[in-house]
Parts: sequence; structure tokens; C-alpha cells
Amino acid sequence: MMRLNRSPLTCTAACAALLCATGAPPVRAATAPVRAPSPAVRTALGRLWLGAAWYPEQWPESRWPKDLALMQAAGINVVRVGEFAWSALEPHQGDYHFGWLARAIAEAARHHIYVVIGTPTDAPPAWLTSRYPQVLRIHADGRRAEHGNRRQFSYASPLYRTFCRDIVTRLAERFGHNPDVIGWQIDNEYTNESYDAGTRRQFQLWLKRRFGTLAALNRAWTTAYWSQTYTAWNQIPLNALPGNPGLMLAHRQFVTATWLSFQRNQLRALRAHIAPRQFITTNIGGLGWSDNWDHYAITRPLDIAAWDDYVGEGQLNFYRNGAMSDFVRGWKRQDYWVMEAQPGFVDWAPVNNSLVKGGVRAMTWESIGHGADAVLFWQWRSALGGQEQYHGTLVGPDGRPEPLYREVQRIGREFKRASAAIAGTSPRSQVALLVSYDSRWAIDFQRQTRRYHQLRVLLDYYRPLENLTHAVDIVSARAPLAHYKVVFAPSLNVISRSLARHLRAYVLSGGVLVLGPRSGMKDQYDRLNVERQPGPLVPLLGGRVQQYYALDAPVAVAGAAGDGTGRIWAEALTPRSRKTRVLLRYGAGNAWLTGEPAAIERRYGHGAILYLGTILDRRLMHAFVERTLAAAGVRSPFGVLPRGIELMRRVGAGREVVILINHGAARRTVRLPYAMRDVLHRGRVLRSVRLRSEGVAVLERTSAP
Ligand code: GAL
Repeated sequence: MMRLNRSPLTCTAACAALLCATGAPPVRAATAPVRAPSPAVRTALGRLWLGAAWYPEQWPESRWPKDLALMQAAGINVVRVGEFAWSALEPHQGDYHFGWLARAIAEAARHHIYVVIGTPTDAPPAWLTSRYPQVLRIHADGRRAEHGNRRQFSYASPLYRTFCRDIVTRLAERFGHNPDVIGWQIDNEYTNESYDAGTRRQFQLWLKRRFGTLAALNRAWTTAYWSQTYTAWNQIPLNALPGNPGLMLAHRQFVTATWLSFQRNQLRALRAHIAPRQFITTNIGGLGWSDNWDHYAITRPLDIAAWDDYVGEGQLNFYRNGAMSDFVRGWKRQDYWVMEAQPGFVDWAPVNNSLVKGGVRAMTWESIGHGADAVLFWQWRSALGGQEQYHGTLVGPDGRPEPLYREVQRIGREFKRASAAIAGTSPRSQVALLVSYDSRWAIDFQRQTRRYHQLRVLLDYYRPLENLTHAVDIVSARAPLAHYKVVFAPSLNVISRSLARHLRAYVLSGGVLVLGPRSGMKDQYDRLNVERQPGPLVPLLGGRVQQYYALDAPVAVAGAAGDGTGRIWAEALTPRSRKTRVLLRYGAGNAWLTGEPAAIERRYGHGAILYLGTILDRRLMHAFVERTLAAAGVRSPFGVLPRGIELMRRVGAGREVVILINHGAARRTVRLPYAMRDVLHRGRVLRSVRLRSEGVAVLERTSAP
């Protein structure tokens, strides 16, 4: 069995992203303190991993060597196992059968394949749910979840957690020092909350801890409205109905806290027994952008972040998938794993079409370019029965390779060639987009126009930023910002006083902060800020939003950044300081808006704050972003690329690797600003690259960056 070779890595991808950030002008504060990556992080992010979800419990043991030999021949070096195998691991209460898993791990090791064990708690066995039906989840409509599917447990049930702790502890004791096990995945895609009576009591207790007194809660939620005032904690409802915004926001935060304690229960069981080099993660689903709970909070205690990257219907939209990947990287501000990737097609979209030939390879390299250090396909082979028979796989029901297998085999060969160059590198950006769950929830509770989609608004900012800089971080609004030259915060609806202090400090030390529409309308309890927008940042901006309008038609906008239109949402701004400049004004067409400022700017301290009150059309948005970046001195050495070309850079320890993908239909040539070695083709030195449709190039800079 090969062993992990960690020796050449002094700075892993993790520390590159976290610690080695550059580009801060001298006036800014220093970046986060230097912290060495842990052994677990070094295991996960020290090389490239290619893998698949493998379910040995569904097949006779005699078949395993054949499957593993096919995996090895495809260059697969990691499998995830076990996450739905509880009934095979403990067929009857207290009757543990771990021998088969030990043999599966040993057989994988014989094929030079490492293992990530998924804890099996997303699918409790039938003996458990029938003997202890009180662990079953209650849907929002009051129905009880039943056996026969997965995720039928209540995430808050203390009894269910006892069973989880038991099975996880035993697995950790048995495999926590197995040299072929590199890590653990807790559960599988935390998904459904529960509305049972026990969970409701926990919600009430959680509120009591948070607010202390009912008077404080009543004040925070303005319960005088519609006679909602509570006089006892047990009166507070738990439901999924549209209700008091303060209560709804608190419920989302409670859901986060409950998944967090569900996770902590298993995290503690694992940490007590496993070797420090084994990492712990969980695979986050819901197409990445899901907002059931706060992803920053959930990933904080984990060693690495991981997500499940599916396109579903249609083809890869590289801006969207790139943005989602950057968002995932931002959860822990370090490289991450794609724990599940789409093997051509799925079985749950309206039309389960396949990615084009070459599309899986392009998507895999796109993930690597955005900071993934592992891509595992879901799944290796479909069970002959069960709910997911139609899903794409790498081998078919006859156990022979599907057409996609050869494409994956090619990725395997390429990963081998590129792993050394990429290890220890990470994307690095001078600009960031800010995200906040409280804001996402607050806007979605009260959209005011069904056309306001926060993801689309984010992508409106992301697209020009990506085109102009080829490296965008998407991070929590509370993340350290000092090393960014410009940060954009579209839809930052909830700005509390403490968040305002954080953003103000960034501007004072030389940062450029661009607030987008709907910023600063609410406080941390989802109450209206009395200053109007952007709430506690009104004094810094020297201006405010006088009135907001949901638009039924685009309005003309013009000014220093160019001419065009505003769509969907428009805020009329009022400067209140002589130093605040108007950048854009609304034109004729909507009498409320005619002549009113649509964007204003104020220089402050060493930096500046801008407020853009509408959603600009694509051309004007590009011009607006270009102007803002130019003023802040941000540019990419690669300039503007041909249409359909995506360029990603990973930097670390005196090295720079560039990944180029042609997502378009036509061949394209990209000129390079300096000589680069072609990592996938025997190290040829190139000054330009020609790429066919779905073509990929991995290039290493020949001189130190
Ligand atoms: C994921 C899930 C997997 C599998 C996959 C199919 O959400 O984690 O177990 O069901 O979807 O696309």
C-alpha cells in the first residue's frame, strides 16, 4: 500500500488561502495570523484525490476485487463508503458486524485506494425506527416520516442522538487508527428539520437562553403587532408558516444550532478515538446555495468543507458553478472536497439529460481550478434495486464500464501528472463578494418582488468580477477583509451595529466597500433600521436610501460609469454629506425615480464606500465594476479572455498554476502574459494555448510569480 507523501508540502492549499494572502496596500491591517495546517488538513489537501462513492454492502464480496481493479485502472485513489450501511453494520440492536467493512477497506488498500468512512446516521435501520418510533421526524404539516426512505429521523431527538453516538463511537474505535482510512464524513447532506413537540420545547428553551426574558423577546420581535405578545415561553409556536419575521429568522438560527449540536455529538465521538491525521467533514448538498441553515457555522468545527456538486438538468453554466465553488471555498476560507460529482446525469431533475462528452472532465477541472483538491463521483455502480436505479454511474448493472468511464480514466491520468504541481496551491483573490445568511433569509421571507433572486443578483456581480480578475472570493460578511482591495456586498439586508463596525474598519484602513441593493434595511432581529438604508452605515456613506421600488419595467440609468438600465429593484438615494458624490442617476420613465441618484460614493479614511441601489443591465454592470476595480488598482495579467474561456489560478509557495477551460463551442486561442509549462503534455513551454470545445489546459509558470 502506498503511503501519503507529505514531505514536499511546507504550505498546503489551506494555508495558502488562509495565511499567505497578498496584495494588501501598505495602509491596511495585516491579514489573519499564520497558523500551520493540522495533520488532518494536510491529509485532505496535500494532493489531488479522484474517487467514487462505493457501496460494498450492496454486492457479494467476490465482486469487490473486480470493482476495485477497475477503479484503480481509472486512477481512482479514494472511495467513500458506509454512509447508508447502518443495517449492515448493526443488523439488530447491539449486534455489530464491522468485519465486512474492515475487509472492504483492506481490499481497497490492495488496490492503492484510500477510504473515507461516512457515518451511517442519515438512514436509521428499521429495527430502530420501529422499536423507537419517537425518533421519527414530523413534517411541517404534522405527518410523521416513515421507514422506507432516508432522513426519517428527528435531528433534535436526544434518543436518536444516543444511537448515533453509539454507532459512531464503535466505528471510530475500530477504524480510527486504520492507516488506510484517511477521513470521516458525518451523516449525509443535513436536510430536514422536524416539527415534533420535543423540538418545539427545545426551540423555546433556545429562545430563553438567547433572549433571557420574554420582555426582551417581545421587544425584539415587535410582538405588539397583531397581538402576538407572549406571556409564557411555551406559547411560542414552531411551524414553517410565513409569520413574524423576527421569529422566522430565529427559527433558521435555531435550525443551524440544532444541526450543529447533531454534528457535535458525532464530532466528539470521532475526535475521542481517531488519529489526528484523519480528517472530519460532512457533504453539503442542495446545489450548494441551499439556505436551510448557515454553512459557515456548520463547517467551522470541521477540518475541511465538502459539497455535492450536481448540475441537474441542462449543461454546466460555468459562472454559476464557478461561483458556487468559490462560495464553498469561502465557508472555511480554504480548499475543499467535492464529495459527490455528477457522473454525466442524475435521476432527480425534470429532464435527466447528460453533460456533453468532455463536460464531466471540464467540470472536474473547473472544480480543481476553484480550489477543490478532491472530486468523487456519485456513484460507482448503481444498486440493482432501490430508489436510484436510473442515476448515472461509472460502471453498469453488468459491472462493465459505462461510456463515461474512459473520460474519468483520462481525468485519473491527468490528476497523476498534475498533482505535484497543484499540491500546496490555492486560488487567491484581491476582491471578494460578501454573503450573509441572516440577509438571505430576511429578504426571502419578504421578497417584495418575485423577481428578486439573490443568487441571480450575486451572479450579476460575479460575472464581471470573474471576467476582469479571474479570481473571486465569496466569503461571509464577517470574514477578515483586510487583504481585499475591493469587496462587493449585494443584498446585505441585515446590518447590525457590530457588522457595521467591521465594515467601517475595512473602509477606514483603505478598503473599497460596494453595497448593493437592499443593504442595511434590517437589524439582527429582522427589524427595520430607523436610519433607513444602509442602517448604521448611513453616517459613513454620507447618504441613505430615501425610498425603494419594486420595478415592473426597466428604468434608464446614466452617469460617470456609463448609460444603461436598472431592473427589478430601484432605490432612490439621497446624499447627506458634501463629500458624497453621485455616480449614477435614474433617467426619465418612472416619475418617482426620475433624476434621483441610483449610485453614490464617498471617500473615507484611506478607502471608499459606494452604494449601488439597483440591478444594472449586464453591459453597464461590467462598466461599473471595471471602473471600480481600475480605481482600486485591481487587474489581471491575463486581460480580457475570449468568450467561453474560463481561467483559474492557484498560487502557493513561489508557484503559480493556471487552469484554462474552453466552455464554448468554437476553438479558441489564449495568449499568455509569460511562458508557462504545459503540465498535461510533457511540460512543453507555451506562450499561447489553443483549446477546442471542452478543452482543458493546466499550465505552470516557469518563473517565480
Ligand atoms: C445526493 C445524495 C446521494 C445521492 C445523490 C444522487 O444528494 O447525497 O446519496 O442520492 O444525491 O444525485
